[in-house]
Amino acid sequence: MDVVVTHPLPLSEGLLKKARLSILPTAGRKPLSRRELLRRVRGTRAILSLLFDRIDCGVMDAAGSSLKIISNFAVGYDNVDVAGAQRRGITVTNTPCQEVSDAVAEHTVALMLSLLRHIPEANAYVRSGKFKGWNPDLLIGSHPAGKTLGLIGLGRIGKRVAQYAARSFGMKTLYSDVVRDRSFEKEYGAIFLPLEKVLTTSDIVSLHVPLLPSTRHLISSRTVKLMKRGALLINTARGPVVDQKAVLSALISKKLGGFALDVFECEPRLMCSNADARAFKKLSNVIMTPHIASATQEARNAMMRIAAENIIAALSGKKPLASVVPHS
Ligand code: GLV
Repeated sequence: MDVVVTHPLPLSEGLLKKARLSILPTAGRKPLSRRELLRRVRGTRAILSLLFDRIDCGVMDAAGSSLKIISNFAVGYDNVDVAGAQRRGITVTNTPCQEVSDAVAEHTVALMLSLLRHIPEANAYVRSGKFKGWNPDLLIGSHPAGKTLGLIGLGRIGKRVAQYAARSFGMKTLYSDVVRDRSFEKEYGAIFLPLEKVLTTSDIVSLHVPLLPSTRHLISSRTVKLMKRGALLINTARGPVVDQKAVLSALISKKLGGFALDVFECEPRLMCSNADARAFKKLSNVIMTPHIASATQEARNAMMRIAAENIIAALSGKKPLASVVPHS
């Protein structure tokens, strides 16, 4: 077997077959059980995995020495033990592309506008029959213009959000990152600051970092205290970057003005405890979407193509489009 595909991905499968690779497809749309995953990968040369598949050393060892590449169908790759793969000489790839950056950045902006203009509340208000005519005091929001947007992480997606914010809304943009991009700063007027300073001075904070030991609970009860009273928080990165219990307390005490999230700390659960999830769901200033920030057809097609091309390249001894190394 050349490639185990853990979820139906028609475009990838078509490209792999065209390259004369044999594939073991998966018909169901639910994540494979651990047992099934370990059984399927035995003797394969490549695994085309999704972000819900935990690809650790156990999976790599179950595949055996034939395994050359783990092609993760996602931009994030915290589900793959990249260091373990590197030790075994296995290439790990992901699917970064303009289509995904655009989709995630657009979704981030949509969440920001939804928080600022109370769109989900307004939708629920109309549907529940409460709308009785124009009222100048109803659901008053505010403009993004003139507000300060703090981006935590200025990679491809963070940059795209900064471009939309600066060009479309004239927002002031601050950012913190492990690397500084002076030419981007010049072009878009973004200001580089330490994390604490970004948190203390932003009206809206948006997270665009990968999940790493150093970014787990980057938003915690300590850092949330640094944020402005009434600030808005957006997470389209990875759930565990936020200590959601700390954010829940900050929302209840009105320290935070709103929270929009596409990813969850204990995904797919809303909160790690059911009692907290019940409290969380009651808050009208919490907006939740089900990990769909990159869900445009354009992005999915590009991801399917890149995931297959990474495998085709690696199995023919060429350099894949997008290999990753362990985060330092
Ligand atoms: C989705 O979350 C991705 O990492 O592509």
